[in-house]
Amino acid sequence: MHLQNPTILASGVQGTSLGRVLDALKFGAGAAVTKSIGPRPREGYKEPTLVEVDSGWVNAAGLPNPGAVKFSEELGSVKGRSLPVIVSIFGGDGKEFGDVVEKLDGNEFIAYELNLSCPHVEGVGTEIGHDPEEVSRVVRAVRSRTKKPIFAKLSPNTDRLVEVAAAAVDAGADGLTAINTIRSVPIDIESGRPSLSNVYGGLSGPAIRPVALRCVYELREAFDVPIMGCGGVVTWKDAVQFMLAGANAVQVGTGTLAKMAVFNDINLGIISYLERKGLSRLDDLVGSAHGKGSG
Ligand SMILES: Cc1cc2nc3c(=O)[nH]c(=O)nc-3n(C[C@H](O)[C@H](O)[C@H](O)COP(=O)(O)O)c2cc1C
Repeated sequence: MHLQNPTILASGVQGTSLGRVLDALKFGAGAAVTKSIGPRPREGYKEPTLVEVDSGWVNAAGLPNPGAVKFSEELGSVKGRSLPVIVSIFGGDGKEFGDVVEKLDGNEFIAYELNLSCPHVEGVGTEIGHDPEEVSRVVRAVRSRTKKPIFAKLSPNTDRLVEVAAAAVDAGADGLTAINTIRSVPIDIESGRPSLSNVYGGLSGPAIRPVALRCVYELREAFDVPIMGCGGVVTWKDAVQFMLAGANAVQVGTGTLAKMAVFNDINLGIISYLERKGLSRLDDLVGSAHGKGSG
């Protein structure tokens, strides 16, 4: 996968509309990941689904999405424009993931990202993403139905990160995305109850960056495949940290809520950092915190 630059809109944060996702490309993103699309339409949870906390947000949107058939029509409307869109998909098991791929695969987009890691929807997130055998079944099901590149998006809510990633790579995933949100429960002291209608949600934003960096670092120690780093990237300095840890590209989610043009800022910052360090290629940066090149 060759992108114009290494900044990518993360899945879901800008909502379900494809138009909104494509806006990220106008603001300098090298690619954009869609909201996760499942086998059938889902409404998601009732409000409140998003609450601000110190240095981040906790969300439990409940994977609202129009379903694969409807979304395939939406993707059809951008045919011929060669846009760098990555389609995020989810399902309850290998069969459901496979069904989604069959409905979407005829459209023009550059890769799949498998959401194996949503921390607040039963049966499609944590349960799959923490079980290497189930991850293997899901990736095989997708691999057998597409020639497009596949990225497995991993959960930080497990002590089996590398094992799960190995299952994905062995089953045919071309790359890894790390990380999805961290399972959380925010509490409202006025009502005395959890703030989210679903009680459990996923923490995103700067608060999770050190955890995300640890995950990318561990994955780069173990694998040579492309890694998209994700979690708390807001400025170019954050992006550079991820690249030093081993990410080939960074995804920005919560950072786009304040400003979609964050992609332009990050790209300019990375370019001047490379110049200041006398590096001619991004690959010279990737993984260099490990004391060896691994781009
Ligand atoms: C409101 C919201 C919705 C999200 N929806 C999805 C989703 O549909 N699929 C997915 O894989 N990740 C989803 N995520 C997780 C993000 O893609 C990303 O992994 C996470 O927010 C960490 O990155 P950030 O700190 O830059 O936001 C969502 C995050 C937020 C805040």
